[in-house]
Amino acid sequence: MEELVKDLEARKRAIRERDGEKRVSSQHKKGKLTAWERIERLLDRDSFSEINPFVTTRVTDFGMDKKRMPGDAVITGYGRINGRKVYLFSQDFTTLGGSLGEMHAQKIARIQDLAMANGCPLIQMNDSGGARIQEGILSLNGYGAIFKRNSLASGVIPQLSLILGPSAGGAVYASGLSDFVFMVRGISRMYITGPDVIKRVAGEEIGHEELGGADVHAQVSGVAHFAHETEDECFKAVRRLLSYLPQNAYEVPPYREPDRGLASDEALDKVIPLDPEESYDVHEVIEAVFDAGSFMEIHEEYAMNVVVGLARLNGHVVGIVANQPEFMAGVLDINASDKIARFVRFCDCFNIPLVNLIDTPGYLPGSTQEFDGIIRHGAKILYAYSEATVPKIVLIMRKAYGGAYIALCSRDMAYDRVLAYPTADIAVMGAEGAVAIIFRKEIAAAQDPEKRLEELKRQYLEKFGGPYLSASYGLVDQVIAPAETRRELFRALDSILEKQESRPEKKHGNIPL
Ligand code: HXC
Repeated sequence: MEELVKDLEARKRAIRERDGEKRVSSQHKKGKLTAWERIERLLDRDSFSEINPFVTTRVTDFGMDKKRMPGDAVITGYGRINGRKVYLFSQDFTTLGGSLGEMHAQKIARIQDLAMANGCPLIQMNDSGGARIQEGILSLNGYGAIFKRNSLASGVIPQLSLILGPSAGGAVYASGLSDFVFMVRGISRMYITGPDVIKRVAGEEIGHEELGGADVHAQVSGVAHFAHETEDECFKAVRRLLSYLPQNAYEVPPYREPDRGLASDEALDKVIPLDPEESYDVHEVIEAVFDAGSFMEIHEEYAMNVVVGLARLNGHVVGIVANQPEFMAGVLDINASDKIARFVRFCDCFNIPLVNLIDTPGYLPGSTQEFDGIIRHGAKILYAYSEATVPKIVLIMRKAYGGAYIALCSRDMAYDRVLAYPTADIAVMGAEGAVAIIFRKEIAAAQDPEKRLEELKRQYLEKFGGPYLSASYGLVDQVIAPAETRRELFRALDSILEKQESRPEKKHGNIPL
């Protein structure tokens, strides 16, 4: 037995040291950590247990017999983050460029199955040239197995993707299918075809960074939810994000004892300007209302006219959707619609109640938005909230006009509790536009059209301005002073935290995509 154990240990050592110094230093020279280093830094100390380390490719063509390596360019296994179990894989770029062949795919699929069967989050660490060219159809079919599992796991377990090098070709879609994508500036690249192919096929010259770097995906395409400066910063963010999430869709998010009470905060009375044209940063409201330092923003640099993220309200995890008056006056456009709908659906999957902080003039008018399908994209918000059965609370802080009122505030469409500040302004549209439409003839015929317009605007505002008409219809449940926001939001949440709602039985809905 002694000999056999020695042999086993030697084999394991060989796997652990398989990269060799040259390969490790080539990875470090590119500013990247190795697959093993990543696992060690992400997980709780000594918690990793590898699964299937001896697996290797079965293909021998194109000189593959000389490139066969135990592990087949991916390390798979399970470990713990903040004491909670996760399953993960980490692709090894130093072996065949982390490319995905038949057995590499099988290893990942097995980890996906284990994550599902055990109800644990899946973490995908990508550093790969995509489908392994030498393995042809076996590689492509391998991706099929992975994507199917990503899709079936969606809404059952959280799936997080870290792009830590190239993620080319098929490699992008396991991330595209996951709940959150993390990227690191300078090393992450995500594209279905790289610059060389684009030059050959389309004659277009474009660098790797401009095509698929962290900034592109965090700011322009919206594919990435987080962009970090270093891999360590990225791992810290992953660990933090998981601290808000349940292990799976059948659990509730972890409660954490709050470090502040529910006392009034008079400073909040001064945050919302009375002048409807004046803007402010909605982060000020968020920071003042939710548990200290608990807000983790998602998609921070994308569609900044809306702010979404996770926070704690008196210890309970909530998802926040807030219009940002400081950016494009907080309008809803195509990208904001996608950002909101995706976030709402994530929260609903994982039993995270939603809190909307509303101050928006509505959907963005314009031919570009119409041509690009604002109807289709805007509909996603309506669908996502209507479908969501988690507790949903609205606070109307100032403007709530038209379609944005329906989508984000309307009681009968979706919301369990609607609160409003005395500054709330709820109407089909702003006074100026409304009066210009309904009194067009009267204004044109007036001796002094401008004076008449002002008079009619005043009358309109007397009728519709403020929250009290809506409250008299029962469509606003309570009017609150800004200073009391934390306490009132918590009480609203507390009163509906255990709410049960059902939806009609069906195969699945057909969200407008
Ligand atoms: C096999 C691959 C490979 C691949 C890289 N390698 N990609 N081997 N299949 N797909 C190997 C290289 O031959 C090299 O091997 C090693 O990995 C490192 O690659 P380099 O090119 O030297 O590294 P670097 O300069 O950092 O460039 C990395 C890269 C580039 C940007 C990823 O290798 C590249 O463009 N690869 C092809 C990407 C691609 O087009 N993938 C799509 C596949 S099709 P040696 O032995 O020399 O160290 C696909 C199907 C789905 O995925 C499509 C859905 C849209």
